[in-house]
Amino acid sequence: MSSPTPIRFISTELEDMASATGRVAVIVTPEGKMDPAARRANRLTKGALKRLLDSPRFAKAKTGQVISLGWPAGMVAEALDVLVLPRRTSDIEARKAGATLAKLRGDKALLVMSGNMTRAADLAMGIALRSYDFDAHKTVKEDAAKETGEVLIAHSRPEEMETGLVPRRAVAEGVHMTRDLVNEPANVLTTTNFADRLKEMEALGLDVEVLDEAALEKLGMRTLLSVGQGSDSPSKVVVMQWKGGDKDAAPLALVGKGVVFDTGGISLKPAGGMEDMTMDMGGAAVVAGTMRALALRKAKANVVGLVGLVENMPSGRATRPGDVVKSMKGDTVEIINTDAEGRLVLCDVMWYAQDRFAPAGMVDLATLTGAIIIGLGHENAGVFSNEDSFCNAFLKAAGAEGEGAWRMPLGKAYDDMLKSRIADMKNVGGRPAGSVTAAQFLQRFVKDGTPWIHLDIAGVASVKSETDYAPKGATGWGVMALDRLVRDRFEAE
Ligand code: BES
Ligand code: MN
Ligand code: ZN
Repeated sequence: MSSPTPIRFISTELEDMASATGRVAVIVTPEGKMDPAARRANRLTKGALKRLLDSPRFAKAKTGQVISLGWPAGMVAEALDVLVLPRRTSDIEARKAGATLAKLRGDKALLVMSGNMTRAADLAMGIALRSYDFDAHKTVKEDAAKETGEVLIAHSRPEEMETGLVPRRAVAEGVHMTRDLVNEPANVLTTTNFADRLKEMEALGLDVEVLDEAALEKLGMRTLLSVGQGSDSPSKVVVMQWKGGDKDAAPLALVGKGVVFDTGGISLKPAGGMEDMTMDMGGAAVVAGTMRALALRKAKANVVGLVGLVENMPSGRATRPGDVVKSMKGDTVEIINTDAEGRLVLCDVMWYAQDRFAPAGMVDLATLTGAIIIGLGHENAGVFSNEDSFCNAFLKAAGAEGEGAWRMPLGKAYDDMLKSRIADMKNVGGRPAGSVTAAQFLQRFVKDGTPWIHLDIAGVASVKSETDYAPKGATGWGVMALDRLVRDRFEAE
């Protein structure tokens, strides 16, 4: 796993600025006001900063933007990063500014002169989130003399800021774990390797159980097993429990689709782009990253994370279109298309989660349908729910974290599209409203009285262009929103 960048708050010593290596960042307001550190930088550079502030370039600069002065005279650093930020910012503005500084720094050392900024912990979190690179499989590093530099943030109240950074660092580490899992290729991240990585989280105080095929067979999880039966990798369900709340408080259940590779099975996908299906375990990765964040920050809540880990492969043993299988719930499914496999994995794990834990709420996450990308692109995950107040709490949390989420409908007419001639239901409802009929399928496995949210993250789990907080590839979407949902709704103060 990629290790998190070391970030530390230190007390402000203006003397440090001249001798700092790597990069030094100072803050100026959009009106061009300098704080003592900026004035010191101006003095060291013999007025270069002031000339920048008087220039048309600065007049056009937007809040959150960074203007870099390269190889500044009078300083050892290779760049002076001038961050344009008002004295008062929102948490998100501060976070984005931190991410901008982190992107510029790459893996160089960075000294940020943050003065007495109130949102410095959020700035630090932005740096943590964006200090990420998945280079595990690059044998030739881009920069031969690569060594990761430290990030130091000078502040007037370093201890207070460090306290604020502790939970934020935990969440950033959870996000990084999710990204690592999503970016990892399927020959490395097999079902067994995935389960092993989750088992390692016991060191953080989580209870982690791995259910093997014999155990799943005994529980009757036939729909889940039918997806994995064409693969040489054994299917597994992993149960992670974080017990930070009241002993008898019902937990929040998080359920994730963990298809380590989705070929489509006998309903084989076309070759073009099939390599992207290494990310088809994105839901399970968000569950894992969220559990990691909750454990690292010792959340005062009970949360259980369950993931179904399978590989969808064609073979002589694979499920055929037309096969009928029985779910753990007892309902039978006619498998029309073996490529609609995510719902077959989730329905058994969701049923098991409710059966065993009687959760106060259940959120499932899955890279479930291509149709959600047609509908919402890569900006928003699809949100489906049977309970408005639970759903609104999630939408609010996602909005506050800047993670796009858009509610989609459910309804009987969509459910009717799943009628089968020979079984209780089909696993596909045809092309129209493909994401909605997938959600309807899942809802058949939600017990009356369980508040439930289904998140279709096919469009947001991994993207081809960089985002505010992540380079190209895995985003870690959802960890921050779910962490905040836990804080808002499940954590007792
Ligand atoms: N894993 C895919 C969905 C997907 C597509 C995720 C693109 C990420 C990017 C899912 O298992 C799938 O194949 N869905 C089918 C459903 C169809 C057969 C009803 C789809 O979307 O085409
Ligand atoms: Mn599929
Ligand atoms: Zn899939």
